[in-house]
Amino acid sequence: MLKITLLFFSSILLSVYSDSRIYGGKNAELGQFPHMADLSVEHYGKFYHLCGASIIHSRWIITAGHCAYYGVKNNIPINVTLGVVDITNGPHQWSVIVPPEDIIIHENYSDDGETAWNDIALLRIRKTVFFNEKILPIKLPSKDDPNDFSNEIGYLSGFGFNLNRNKSEPNILQYITEKVLTNEECTKQNKNYPATVDSEICISSLNGRTACPGSPLIVKNCTVGDILVGITSYVDIGNVCKSDLNGPVVFMRVSYFMDWIEEKTGIKF
Ligand SMILES: *[C@@H]1O[C@H](CO)[C@@H](O)[C@H](O)[C@H]1NC(C)=O
Ligand SMILES: *[C@@H]1O[C@H](CO)[C@@H](O)[C@H](O)[C@H]1NC(C)=O
Ligand SMILES: *[C@@H]1O[C@H](CO)[C@@H](O)[C@H](O)[C@H]1NC(C)=O
Ligand SMILES: *[C@@H]1O[C@H](CO)[C@@H](O)[C@H](O)[C@H]1NC(C)=O
Repeated sequence: MLKITLLFFSSILLSVYSDSRIYGGKNAELGQFPHMADLSVEHYGKFYHLCGASIIHSRWIITAGHCAYYGVKNNIPINVTLGVVDITNGPHQWSVIVPPEDIIIHENYSDDGETAWNDIALLRIRKTVFFNEKILPIKLPSKDDPNDFSNEIGYLSGFGFNLNRNKSEPNILQYITEKVLTNEECTKQNKNYPATVDSEICISSLNGRTACPGSPLIVKNCTVGDILVGITSYVDIGNVCKSDLNGPVVFMRVSYFMDWIEEKTGIKF
Protein backbone atom coordinates (compact mmCIF):
# COMPACT_ATOMS: atom_id res chain seq x y z
CA MET A 1 0.00 0.00 0.00
CA LEU A 2 1.22 3.42 -0.87
CA LYS A 3 -0.13 6.31 1.11
CA ILE A 4 0.39 9.67 -0.48
CA THR A 5 -0.58 12.93 1.00
CA LEU A 6 -0.02 16.03 -0.92
CA LEU A 7 2.78 17.37 1.20
CA PHE A 8 5.85 19.36 0.24
CA PHE A 9 6.44 20.54 -3.24
CA SER A 10 8.08 17.39 -4.48
CA SER A 11 5.26 15.24 -3.29
CA ILE A 12 2.68 17.77 -4.37
CA LEU A 13 4.21 17.58 -7.81
CA LEU A 14 4.45 13.84 -7.58
CA SER A 15 0.87 13.59 -6.58
CA VAL A 16 -0.07 16.10 -9.20
CA TYR A 17 1.51 13.86 -11.78
CA SER A 18 -0.50 10.96 -10.55
CA ASP A 19 -3.35 11.71 -8.30
CA SER A 20 -4.16 15.15 -7.21
CA ARG A 21 -6.66 16.22 -9.81
CA ILE A 22 -10.35 15.97 -9.39
CA TYR A 23 -11.36 12.63 -10.81
CA GLY A 24 -14.77 11.75 -12.08
CA GLY A 25 -15.68 15.41 -12.11
CA LYS A 26 -17.79 17.56 -14.37
CA ASN A 27 -16.66 20.76 -16.05
CA ALA A 28 -17.63 23.83 -14.06
CA GLU A 29 -19.11 26.88 -15.77
CA LEU A 30 -17.49 30.27 -15.32
CA GLY A 31 -19.19 31.81 -12.30
CA GLN A 32 -20.40 28.51 -10.87
CA PHE A 33 -17.72 28.51 -8.15
CA PRO A 34 -16.74 32.20 -8.05
CA HIS A 35 -14.78 31.73 -4.80
CA MET A 36 -12.38 29.30 -6.49
CA ALA A 37 -8.75 30.39 -6.72
CA ASP A 38 -5.84 28.72 -8.47
CA LEU A 39 -2.40 28.82 -6.83
CA SER A 40 0.64 28.43 -9.04
CA VAL A 41 4.38 28.83 -8.75
CA GLU A 42 7.24 29.35 -11.10
CA HIS A 43 9.73 26.52 -11.16
CA TYR A 44 12.69 26.72 -13.54
CA GLY A 45 10.91 29.18 -15.77
CA LYS A 46 7.66 27.24 -15.99
CA PHE A 47 4.42 27.88 -14.15
CA TYR A 48 2.99 25.02 -12.22
CA HIS A 49 -0.41 24.64 -10.73
CA LEU A 50 0.22 24.15 -7.02
CA CYS A 51 -3.09 23.98 -5.23
CA GLY A 52 -6.64 25.20 -5.07
CA ALA A 53 -7.80 27.90 -2.67
CA SER A 54 -10.82 30.05 -1.83
CA ILE A 55 -11.57 33.75 -1.70
CA ILE A 56 -12.97 34.67 1.72
CA HIS A 57 -12.56 38.46 1.55
CA SER A 58 -11.32 41.12 -0.85
CA ARG A 59 -7.89 40.83 0.77
CA TRP A 60 -7.76 37.21 1.90
CA ILE A 61 -7.44 33.75 0.34
CA ILE A 62 -7.57 30.52 2.32
CA THR A 63 -5.82 27.27 1.42
CA ALA A 64 -4.15 24.20 2.91
CA GLY A 65 -1.13 24.76 5.17
CA HIS A 66 1.06 22.42 3.18
CA CYS A 67 0.37 24.36 -0.01
CA ALA A 68 1.43 27.66 1.53
CA TYR A 69 4.37 26.02 3.27
CA TYR A 70 5.98 25.41 -0.07
CA GLY A 71 6.13 29.14 -0.78
CA VAL A 72 7.38 30.02 2.67
CA LYS A 73 9.95 27.24 2.92
CA ASN A 74 11.43 28.03 -0.48
CA ASN A 75 10.92 31.77 -0.16
CA ILE A 76 9.09 31.99 -3.46
CA PRO A 77 5.93 33.92 -4.29
CA ILE A 78 2.64 32.20 -4.97
CA ASN A 79 0.60 33.35 -7.92
CA VAL A 80 -3.11 33.54 -7.13
CA THR A 81 -5.47 33.51 -10.08
CA LEU A 82 -9.15 34.29 -9.69
CA GLY A 83 -12.18 34.20 -11.91
CA VAL A 84 -11.07 31.46 -14.29
CA VAL A 85 -12.27 27.98 -15.10
CA ASP A 86 -9.69 27.24 -17.78
CA ILE A 87 -6.02 27.30 -16.78
CA THR A 88 -4.68 25.85 -20.02
CA ASN A 89 -2.83 28.76 -21.50
CA GLY A 90 -3.36 31.94 -19.62
CA PRO A 91 -3.09 34.86 -19.55
CA HIS A 92 -5.62 34.82 -16.81
CA GLN A 93 -8.21 37.45 -16.22
CA TRP A 94 -7.17 38.32 -12.71
CA SER A 95 -4.01 37.27 -11.00
CA VAL A 96 -1.97 38.59 -8.14
CA ILE A 97 1.36 37.60 -6.66
CA VAL A 98 1.43 36.90 -2.94
CA PRO A 99 4.96 37.06 -1.53
CA PRO A 100 5.98 34.62 1.22
CA GLU A 101 5.86 37.33 3.90
CA ASP A 102 2.13 37.67 3.28
CA ILE A 103 1.45 34.02 3.94
CA ILE A 104 0.18 32.99 7.38
CA ILE A 105 0.41 29.28 8.17
CA HIS A 106 -1.26 27.90 11.27
CA GLU A 107 1.23 27.91 14.17
CA ASN A 108 0.52 24.28 14.91
CA TYR A 109 0.61 23.09 11.35
CA SER A 110 2.56 19.86 11.21
CA ASP A 111 2.72 16.76 9.14
CA ASP A 112 4.38 13.38 9.21
CA GLY A 113 4.56 13.07 5.46
CA GLU A 114 1.24 11.23 5.38
CA THR A 115 -1.23 13.11 7.51
CA ALA A 116 -1.25 16.79 8.36
CA TRP A 117 -2.61 18.63 11.36
CA ASN A 118 -3.86 22.21 11.34
CA ASP A 119 -3.31 22.10 7.59
CA ILE A 120 -4.59 25.62 6.97
CA ALA A 121 -3.12 28.92 5.80
CA LEU A 122 -4.15 32.43 4.82
CA LEU A 123 -2.73 34.48 1.96
CA ARG A 124 -3.00 38.23 2.34
CA ILE A 125 -3.47 40.12 -0.90
CA ARG A 126 -1.94 43.59 -1.05
CA LYS A 127 -4.42 45.04 -3.48
CA THR A 128 -8.15 44.81 -3.06
CA VAL A 129 -9.91 42.30 -5.24
CA PHE A 130 -12.89 43.79 -7.04
CA PHE A 131 -15.77 41.41 -7.05
CA ASN A 132 -17.97 40.58 -9.99
CA GLU A 133 -20.16 37.62 -10.86
CA LYS A 134 -17.05 35.50 -11.56
CA ILE A 135 -15.03 36.55 -8.51
CA LEU A 136 -16.82 36.44 -5.16
CA PRO A 137 -15.93 35.54 -1.60
CA ILE A 138 -17.42 32.42 -0.05
CA LYS A 139 -19.24 32.62 3.29
CA LEU A 140 -17.56 31.04 6.25
CA PRO A 141 -19.44 28.91 8.75
CA SER A 142 -20.21 30.16 12.19
CA LYS A 143 -18.11 28.64 14.94
CA ASP A 144 -21.20 28.41 17.12
CA ASP A 145 -23.25 26.50 14.58
CA PRO A 146 -23.75 23.00 15.98
CA ASN A 147 -24.30 21.70 12.42
CA ASP A 148 -21.56 19.23 11.51
CA PHE A 149 -22.79 19.27 7.86
CA SER A 150 -22.96 15.47 7.81
CA ASN A 151 -25.30 14.03 5.20
CA GLU A 152 -25.44 17.35 3.39
CA ILE A 153 -24.32 17.42 -0.22
CA GLY A 154 -20.78 18.72 -0.49
CA TYR A 155 -19.53 20.37 -3.69
CA LEU A 156 -15.82 19.89 -4.21
CA SER A 157 -14.21 21.92 -6.96
CA GLY A 158 -10.65 21.74 -8.19
CA PHE A 159 -8.44 22.46 -11.12
CA GLY A 160 -7.21 19.85 -13.45
CA PHE A 161 -3.60 19.79 -14.33
CA ASN A 162 -1.36 19.21 -17.24
CA LEU A 163 2.37 18.83 -17.02
CA ASN A 164 3.97 16.38 -19.37
CA ARG A 165 1.17 13.91 -19.15
CA ASN A 166 -1.36 13.43 -21.81
CA LYS A 167 -3.36 16.37 -22.94
CA SER A 168 -6.74 14.78 -22.32
CA GLU A 169 -6.51 15.63 -18.66
CA PRO A 170 -8.79 18.48 -17.78
CA ASN A 171 -7.49 22.00 -17.41
CA ILE A 172 -11.05 23.11 -16.91
CA LEU A 173 -12.23 23.52 -13.33
CA GLN A 174 -13.88 20.28 -12.26
CA TYR A 175 -16.40 19.58 -9.57
CA ILE A 176 -17.97 16.61 -7.88
CA THR A 177 -20.81 16.25 -5.42
CA GLU A 178 -20.63 13.80 -2.55
CA LYS A 179 -22.35 13.39 0.79
CA VAL A 180 -20.47 14.77 3.79
CA LEU A 181 -19.63 12.00 6.27
CA THR A 182 -19.97 12.09 10.02
CA ASN A 183 -16.54 12.01 11.65
CA GLU A 184 -17.41 8.60 13.05
CA GLU A 185 -18.04 7.26 9.56
CA CYS A 186 -14.86 8.96 8.32
CA THR A 187 -12.81 7.19 10.98
CA LYS A 188 -14.38 3.91 9.96
CA GLN A 189 -13.58 4.43 6.28
CA ASN A 190 -10.09 5.85 6.87
CA LYS A 191 -8.76 2.64 8.31
CA ASN A 192 -5.07 3.26 7.64
CA TYR A 193 -5.04 6.64 9.37
CA PRO A 194 -5.58 8.02 12.85
CA ALA A 195 -9.17 8.62 13.93
CA THR A 196 -10.82 11.70 12.46
CA VAL A 197 -10.51 14.63 14.84
CA ASP A 198 -12.77 17.65 15.45
CA SER A 199 -10.67 19.81 13.14
CA GLU A 200 -11.43 17.52 10.18
CA ILE A 201 -14.40 16.86 7.92
CA CYS A 202 -14.66 14.23 5.19
CA ILE A 203 -16.46 13.03 2.13
CA SER A 204 -16.34 9.55 0.75
CA SER A 205 -13.94 9.00 -2.13
CA LEU A 206 -16.04 6.24 -3.62
CA ASN A 207 -15.51 5.98 -7.35
CA GLY A 208 -12.00 7.33 -6.93
CA ARG A 209 -13.13 10.90 -6.75
CA THR A 210 -10.80 13.33 -5.11
CA ALA A 211 -9.35 16.79 -5.57
CA CYS A 212 -6.10 18.66 -5.35
CA PRO A 213 -4.98 20.09 -2.00
CA GLY A 214 -6.34 23.39 -0.77
CA SER A 215 -9.50 22.99 -2.84
CA PRO A 216 -12.79 24.07 -1.31
CA LEU A 217 -15.60 21.84 -0.12
CA ILE A 218 -18.82 23.84 0.07
CA VAL A 219 -22.41 23.11 1.00
CA LYS A 220 -25.36 24.95 -0.46
CA ASN A 221 -27.85 26.27 2.06
CA CYS A 222 -31.06 27.78 0.69
CA THR A 223 -31.34 30.38 3.41
CA VAL A 224 -27.71 31.28 4.04
CA GLY A 225 -26.20 30.56 0.62
CA ASP A 226 -22.97 28.67 -0.14
CA ILE A 227 -20.73 27.98 2.84
CA LEU A 228 -17.10 26.89 2.85
CA VAL A 229 -16.98 23.86 5.12
CA GLY A 230 -13.68 22.19 4.20
CA ILE A 231 -10.21 22.68 2.76
CA THR A 232 -8.75 19.62 1.02
CA SER A 233 -5.89 18.10 2.99
CA TYR A 234 -5.19 14.48 2.21
CA VAL A 235 -6.46 11.17 0.91
CA ASP A 236 -5.26 7.61 1.38
CA ILE A 237 -4.20 6.46 -2.04
CA GLY A 238 -4.35 2.72 -2.43
CA ASN A 239 -2.03 2.56 -5.38
CA VAL A 240 -0.93 4.86 -8.11
CA CYS A 241 -3.89 3.78 -10.18
CA LYS A 242 -6.02 6.85 -9.92
CA SER A 243 -9.33 5.26 -9.26
CA ASP A 244 -8.17 3.14 -6.36
CA LEU A 245 -8.41 5.16 -3.18
CA ASN A 246 -8.41 3.49 0.19
CA GLY A 247 -10.15 6.13 2.20
CA PRO A 248 -12.24 9.26 2.25
CA VAL A 249 -11.04 12.71 1.24
CA VAL A 250 -10.08 14.51 4.45
CA PHE A 251 -10.49 18.28 4.77
CA MET A 252 -9.74 20.80 7.44
CA ARG A 253 -13.08 21.71 9.05
CA VAL A 254 -13.35 25.45 8.54
CA SER A 255 -15.78 26.07 11.44
CA TYR A 256 -13.17 24.66 13.83
CA PHE A 257 -10.66 27.30 12.71
CA MET A 258 -12.93 30.36 12.82
CA ASP A 259 -11.27 31.88 15.89
CA TRP A 260 -7.89 31.48 14.25
CA ILE A 261 -9.11 32.95 10.95
CA GLU A 262 -10.67 35.95 12.68
CA GLU A 263 -7.61 36.52 14.81
CA LYS A 264 -5.20 36.44 11.87
CA THR A 265 -7.29 38.51 9.49
CA GLY A 266 -8.64 40.86 12.14
CA ILE A 267 -12.02 40.46 10.47
CA LYS A 268 -15.25 39.31 12.08
CA PHE A 269 -16.80 36.92 9.56
C1 LIG B 1 1.37 35.17 -12.39
O1 LIG B 1 0.37 34.83 -13.30
C2 LIG B 1 0.27 35.66 -14.43
C3 LIG B 1 -0.90 35.21 -15.26
O2 LIG B 1 -0.73 33.89 -15.61
C4 LIG B 1 1.55 35.61 -15.21
O3 LIG B 1 1.47 36.51 -16.28
C5 LIG B 1 2.70 35.97 -14.30
O4 LIG B 1 3.91 35.83 -14.99
C6 LIG B 1 2.71 35.11 -13.07
N1 LIG B 1 3.80 35.54 -12.21
C7 LIG B 1 4.43 34.77 -11.33
C8 LIG B 1 5.56 35.37 -10.58
O5 LIG B 1 4.11 33.62 -11.13
C1 LIG C 1 -0.94 25.37 19.43
O1 LIG C 1 -0.69 24.34 20.34
C2 LIG C 1 -0.42 24.77 21.66
C3 LIG C 1 -0.02 23.56 22.47
O2 LIG C 1 -0.98 22.57 22.37
C4 LIG C 1 -1.64 25.49 22.20
O3 LIG C 1 -1.40 25.95 23.49
C5 LIG C 1 -2.00 26.65 21.28
O4 LIG C 1 -3.18 27.25 21.71
C6 LIG C 1 -2.15 26.18 19.86
N1 LIG C 1 -2.30 27.33 18.99
C7 LIG C 1 -3.36 27.47 18.18
C8 LIG C 1 -3.40 28.72 17.36
O5 LIG C 1 -4.25 26.66 18.07
C1 LIG D 1 -4.88 10.03 -22.48
O1 LIG D 1 -5.25 9.31 -21.33
C2 LIG D 1 -6.53 8.74 -21.42
C3 LIG D 1 -6.88 8.15 -20.08
O2 LIG D 1 -5.75 7.83 -19.33
C4 LIG D 1 -6.52 7.73 -22.54
O3 LIG D 1 -7.79 7.15 -22.66
C5 LIG D 1 -6.18 8.41 -23.86
O4 LIG D 1 -6.08 7.49 -24.88
C6 LIG D 1 -4.86 9.14 -23.72
N1 LIG D 1 -4.66 9.96 -24.90
C7 LIG D 1 -3.46 10.10 -25.48
C8 LIG D 1 -3.41 11.00 -26.67
O5 LIG D 1 -2.47 9.53 -25.07
C1 LIG E 1 -28.98 26.42 6.66
O1 LIG E 1 -28.32 27.17 7.63
C2 LIG E 1 -29.08 27.40 8.80
C3 LIG E 1 -28.28 28.33 9.70
O2 LIG E 1 -27.01 27.81 9.94
C4 LIG E 1 -29.37 26.06 9.45
O3 LIG E 1 -30.13 26.25 10.61
C5 LIG E 1 -30.10 25.16 8.47
O4 LIG E 1 -30.24 23.89 9.03
C6 LIG E 1 -29.33 25.05 7.18
N1 LIG E 1 -30.12 24.32 6.21
C7 LIG E 1 -29.64 23.32 5.52
C8 LIG E 1 -30.57 22.68 4.55
O5 LIG E 1 -28.51 22.93 5.67
